[in-house]
Amino acid sequence: MSGSAVAVVGAGSIGVAWAVVFARAGHQVRVHDVDAARRDLVPREVRERADELAAHGLLADPEALASRVEVGDDLAEVVGPAVHVQECVVESEEVKRELFAVLDRVASPTAVLASSSSMMPVSRFAADLPGRDRCLVVHPGNPPYLLPVAELVPAEFTSADAVERTHALLLAAGMAPVRVEREVEGFLFNRLQGALLREAYRLVRDGVASATDVDRVVSQGLGRRWAVLGPFATADLNTRGGLTRHAELMGPAYLRMGAEHGEVEEWPAELVARVADDLHAEQHPDEWAANVLSRDRALMRVAGAVTG
Ligand SMILES: NC(=O)c1ccc[n+]([C@@H]2O[C@H](COP(=O)([O-])OP(=O)(O)OC[C@H]3O[C@@H](n4cnc5c(N)ncnc54)[C@H](O)[C@@H]3O)[C@@H](O)[C@H]2O)c1
Repeated sequence: MSGSAVAVVGAGSIGVAWAVVFARAGHQVRVHDVDAARRDLVPREVRERADELAAHGLLADPEALASRVEVGDDLAEVVGPAVHVQECVVESEEVKRELFAVLDRVASPTAVLASSSSMMPVSRFAADLPGRDRCLVVHPGNPPYLLPVAELVPAEFTSADAVERTHALLLAAGMAPVRVEREVEGFLFNRLQGALLREAYRLVRDGVASATDVDRVVSQGLGRRWAVLGPFATADLNTRGGLTRHAELMGPAYLRMGAEHGEVEEWPAELVARVADDLHAEQHPDEWAANVLSRDRALMRVAGAVTG
């Protein structure tokens, strides 16, 4: 798979970053943008990112990476040989709809057409295409060469084969693909981010804290923990008795906080049990103390990296 051709369409922040990811994995990457000025900047930006990665010990050969990225002014030529097309144009339903119609005509019939869309499910702009079964969203974090997570969001019409091939391509490229089972606006990443942002804005609006102190709580606290554990795993390890006990002890307060702004979200026992079952497949409750120690050791490595 490494060495196969990948096309990136739209060469802004995310397009350039995806080019780095795929070239780092050994793919031949062709990049297109409608804007000639953007196209001209791509080689330099790719090289700069590759040099930075190398300077931080995260890449062995920046020159080799950069040599695998080519820029083209003809969309059909750029896309033609690709096994995977990663669309990275502006977050507009109209622009994506128009572009996907062209991509479906000019790409190889076996190529996967993936959108980097942050919020919009692919069914919003590819549902009428003859080749819709090879279309899906592959939403990255920014920048994807440093944040491995990538959300795979198929529509009901996306084939299992397109999902499987994309999953394999991303895994082989060192990414951590996550499958979103149902199309929802914002997927997982931006729904979680949105929940936090909504509360952050409310806290500033209501004079509870300054914006910089809200940011500090995340960068010096929650975010450090979230570098090694998600919110469920955190709750499980923060409370003796684990996630179920956490929900009993803290659930009522979280319910009241949501209800303050009309969001009444109970955590019924069967939902908590489902989360606990899922979580404990990876983080066994009998090893709670050992898991707490592993968390602390992981946080020590993060602390060393952040202050080092
Ligand atoms: N910036 C982020 O944090 C982030 C994170 C994840 C996903 N995304 C998503 O990635 C996509 C791109 O976002 P961005 O931040 O890189 O935007 P950007 O504005 O930096 O880049 C978009 C590029 O697309 C080009 N473009 C527009 N129409 C085109 C077309 N028809 N054909 C070819 N090129 C075209 C523009 O010239 C521009 O260079 C959006 O869907 C966005 O939601 C962004």
